[in-house]
Amino acid sequence: MAGNPVKWVYLILASYLFFDLVLAADTHIAKKTYIVQMDKSAMPKSFTNHLEWYSSKVKSVLFNPEKEGDAGDDDRIIYSYQTAIHGVAALLSQEEAERLEDEHGVVAIFPDTKYQLHTTRSPAFLGLEPEDSTSVWSQKVLDHDVVVGVLDTGIWPESESFNDTGMTPVPAHWKGKCETGRGFEKHHCNRKIVGARVFYHGYEAATGKINEQTEYKSPRDQDGHGTHTAATVAGSPVRGANLQGYAYGTARGMAPGARLAVYKVCWSGGCFSSDILSAVDRAVDDGVNVLSISLGGGVSPYYRDSLSIAAFGAMEMGVFISSSAGNGGPDPVSLTNVSPWITTVGASTMDRDFPATVKLGNGRTVSGVSLYRERRIRGSINKQYPMVYMGSNSSSPDPSSLCLEGTLDRRMVAGKIVICDRGISPRVQKGQVVKDAGGVGMVLSNTASNGEELVADCHLLPAVAVGETEGKALKNYVLTSPKATANLAFLDTRLGIRPSPVVAAFSSRGPNFLSLEILKPDVVAPGVNILAAWTGDTGPSSLPTDRRRVKFNLLSGTSMSCPHVSGVAALLKARHPDWSPAVIKSALMTTAYVHDNTGNPLRDSSTAAPSSPYDHGAGHINPIKALDPGLVYDIKAQDYFEFLCTQSLTPAQLKFFSNRSCQHSLANPGDLNYPSISAVFPEKASITTLTLHRTVTNVGPAVSNYHVVVSPFKGASVQVKPKTLHFTRKYQKISYKITFTTVSRQTVPEFGGLVWKDGVHRVRSPIVITWLPPL
Ligand SMILES: *[C@@H]1O[C@H](CO)[C@@H](O)[C@H](O)[C@H]1NC(C)=O
Ligand SMILES: *[C@@H]1O[C@H](CO)[C@@H](O)[C@H](O)[C@H]1NC(C)=O
Ligand SMILES: *[C@@H]1O[C@H](CO)[C@@H](O)[C@H](O)[C@H]1NC(C)=O
Repeated sequence: MAGNPVKWVYLILASYLFFDLVLAADTHIAKKTYIVQMDKSAMPKSFTNHLEWYSSKVKSVLFNPEKEGDAGDDDRIIYSYQTAIHGVAALLSQEEAERLEDEHGVVAIFPDTKYQLHTTRSPAFLGLEPEDSTSVWSQKVLDHDVVVGVLDTGIWPESESFNDTGMTPVPAHWKGKCETGRGFEKHHCNRKIVGARVFYHGYEAATGKINEQTEYKSPRDQDGHGTHTAATVAGSPVRGANLQGYAYGTARGMAPGARLAVYKVCWSGGCFSSDILSAVDRAVDDGVNVLSISLGGGVSPYYRDSLSIAAFGAMEMGVFISSSAGNGGPDPVSLTNVSPWITTVGASTMDRDFPATVKLGNGRTVSGVSLYRERRIRGSINKQYPMVYMGSNSSSPDPSSLCLEGTLDRRMVAGKIVICDRGISPRVQKGQVVKDAGGVGMVLSNTASNGEELVADCHLLPAVAVGETEGKALKNYVLTSPKATANLAFLDTRLGIRPSPVVAAFSSRGPNFLSLEILKPDVVAPGVNILAAWTGDTGPSSLPTDRRRVKFNLLSGTSMSCPHVSGVAALLKARHPDWSPAVIKSALMTTAYVHDNTGNPLRDSSTAAPSSPYDHGAGHINPIKALDPGLVYDIKAQDYFEFLCTQSLTPAQLKFFSNRSCQHSLANPGDLNYPSISAVFPEKASITTLTLHRTVTNVGPAVSNYHVVVSPFKGASVQVKPKTLHFTRKYQKISYKITFTTVSRQTVPEFGGLVWKDGVHRVRSPIVITWLPPL
């Protein structure tokens, strides 16, 4: 154990966590935050307002209320919710919570839970973004009144990306507020940042008071993540944006004409569901059209997932919600935020790279990537430095523990280039360790868990990241040549990288184990090496030791792909104000593409093999096509509720989502009018046919004729009826049936697609056929 520093780090962390819990238990007399969901319609007539009723309910279960020394009863309630969900967040002991659960009018009680930002954060910086004049960005964007709410770490208002020059006054219907605090004044809101609010009651209840000396208890963003995601959604164009010369160009958000409303829910120690719920609730009431939520927790059943429940309420109010799929890839079944009423966004690469090379003493040159500021290690371009590797080529127990703090012997590495394996600690931190030990450079080698996926980092010393294969070759060279040498060179920014896009290795993967009938993720969007605005408070590596300050930073993660979709949704909403959240999602999905810029099927960077809909969903978003999708699959709030009615929830659990009642209009969850199609054959082999139903709405020319094309499958034949659709007016709806007949049961799912074509539009749905293994 002593030989394994990673384990030590865990141990130390674990003991801190434990210490924290003990402290929290002491100061709060074992009270925790619970989210108490109430049935608004059950309020007795004797009450005049809901909050009064909710708080009387909470009071009625308090243990010995008159003896409460630390807090009056009213202080027990830290939030009331009234738009997306109804109820309160309150500080309760477990016993009190249990008592409250039995009270009339109480629908559900959830303990507060912690969520994480979806950046590949420990590595903490990577990144690039298409800031040039690709069609989406050069599109003349209308001045419009769409407001996107961003739930994140706040905003750095001085960034040029939030300059409101030329924007029209804030729409009259907007009800948001500009909350002030340390480092954030009224004037920091403008025609671009139209709202800024903070939510920390749940966070403080769980972790103790925010230290106002070291953290802004205001919408100001210390972390950088929130500034980056907000700028990706709706940043104004900024010429000459770059990170230390890399990715030079014009940076702008997807919807530069849209407004931003900032809801700061994440603090230095994480993000809590009671705060997130309050932010969703408030955002819906403020009047946002789109919510961008680049965070997630684990997957829990629909009725246990408070974000899913709040998102349902937001969807009922016409708000489009885009969420990150998570960074749990390439492991299968690693998705979060999978509810059908949420748009779940995975991440893929773009056609830009930051190449760098390792030139070896044996004449070979190995390529990798880097964002190091200089072009080479200071000194002669031809100079060769000794290169060392502290691991061995036998599979050492944990190569990723190399180059952690305190593991490098100065006598072994000073003046040398050090090969380190990429692991769980921040990649830039490994560089810092090498630098501190006197190393002149670093080669960071991927291991099997990262494959060939390269993330470019803003290192503090000359450093190059290389893929697993090249890394092995380098290590082998060092281990077999006593006089191994190398030099590093940094080649700036390259465009036109092929193939691209490629699904990022870290992007979370399906299947969606909550409901196999709903294919997730929905789409992929750029999420690797994204350039966007950054905080002035933290260096580009996010390391406390990093004193550099930059206006833009390159980050990677599904946190970065989610705001691309949020921004494009805002563009669609601006162009088509009458489109429902489901129609916007349908337009994004049915126009997505599944081929890369070499004309081949999209690939997965963890294997270099073609990716499947479990990796890329309907494919890569294609914003211009999504403006004119031809046909759409609409879903009303009641239809989503009918889907829930098929999910074996109890009547009480169904109430968490809505007071609607089940009409039992869906025979099969796969019949939800979703833009992707997942046919699941049950375990019983005698069931060999399955029919699913879909209804399309014509949003193209009034008179349109479509015909269908379906890809072939090994295990089943597929019949679509009718095979042609004749529309005579706009918004006309036509239904069709898809019948799957098993030819031979397959042990692995089969993937394909169905396309409706009218000569102009291609309305594509991915298809997955799954045969559940016989019991
Ligand atoms: C905003 O942009 C305009 C036009 O480019 C410029 O004149 C102005 O100085 C900028 N404002 C700030 C606060 O940087
Ligand atoms: C490990 O290194 C030895 C020489 O030291 C070499 O013969 C062997 O092929 C290497 N093994 C692998 C798996 O690279
Ligand atoms: C459901 O709730 C809404 C608003 O909260 C209310 O207007 C409606 O009457 C309720 N419907 C039922 C069936 O309780």
